[in-house]
Amino acid sequence: MRTVRPKKTPRWLEAARLRKGPMPPGGRADWLARALGRAGVMPRAEAEQAIRDGRVEVGGQVAREPFAPVLPGVEVRVDGQARSLEAPLHVLMFHKPAGAIVAGTDPEGVGTVFELLREVLPEELRGFEWYAVGRLDRDTTGLLLFSNDERVLQYATSPETHLPKRYVVQVSGRPSKAALWRLREGVVLEDGPTRPAGARLRALDQVELVLTEGRHHQVKRMLAAVGYPVRTLHREAVGSLVLDVPTGHWRLLSEAEVAEGLGFKLAAAPGEGG
Ligand code: URA
Repeated sequence: MRTVRPKKTPRWLEAARLRKGPMPPGGRADWLARALGRAGVMPRAEAEQAIRDGRVEVGGQVAREPFAPVLPGVEVRVDGQARSLEAPLHVLMFHKPAGAIVAGTDPEGVGTVFELLREVLPEELRGFEWYAVGRLDRDTTGLLLFSNDERVLQYATSPETHLPKRYVVQVSGRPSKAALWRLREGVVLEDGPTRPAGARLRALDQVELVLTEGRHHQVKRMLAAVGYPVRTLHREAVGSLVLDVPTGHWRLLSEAEVAEGLGFKLAAAPGEGG
């Protein structure tokens, strides 16, 4: 008989249960561990442990609950040292190598993109919680964005945003004009028809595909549906941001790149989420 494990309560739900009353004026109620991760004091999992270990004080009291609401402006101390919860918005581009998985842990032991990123980040950026903005398959290479603010992720992956993502796909065979036309018009997949896409040949066996949605294995499924299985897949642009760092490297984006390249503005971002 299979053991049925009790489902873990999502963090946002624990936080919502602990939060009482309406949102504070001029700021969103956040939860302690997430606020510490976003502000770069320490990544969220470390913050949860530090809180449980009694190392964090909020408003002069030891805080033992990682999901307790924390209001803007409250005094926070970690190991007795005052720490600011003011969080700058950071977005960085990372050139994902093949092999690394976009997940918290890697059951195959090859490594996660979070581990790779932490290895190459300087000390002053390691305290942030870095959220991967969307996913790439293990064997996909190319542009993966990370942010310390989960609202960038919510924005970029929302089905309403339609942020263009440009892929270069090496395929088996030589795609016909009819196949390219089908990719452009929309292909019917198991989870419904795809949105109109950009599709053109870059070489006889290489397709450039621009999608404005991000379904699971979408590029591979679209190419397989038109008869040209994917051999290699690389993402070279998201919005108008074009990957410009070598494999395994990263760089921070400027405010203008985030606003113009991604179309993300904090003020216009959705309200509190998970
Ligand atoms: N589509 C896929 O099939 N894989 C990716 O990694 C990204 C888009």
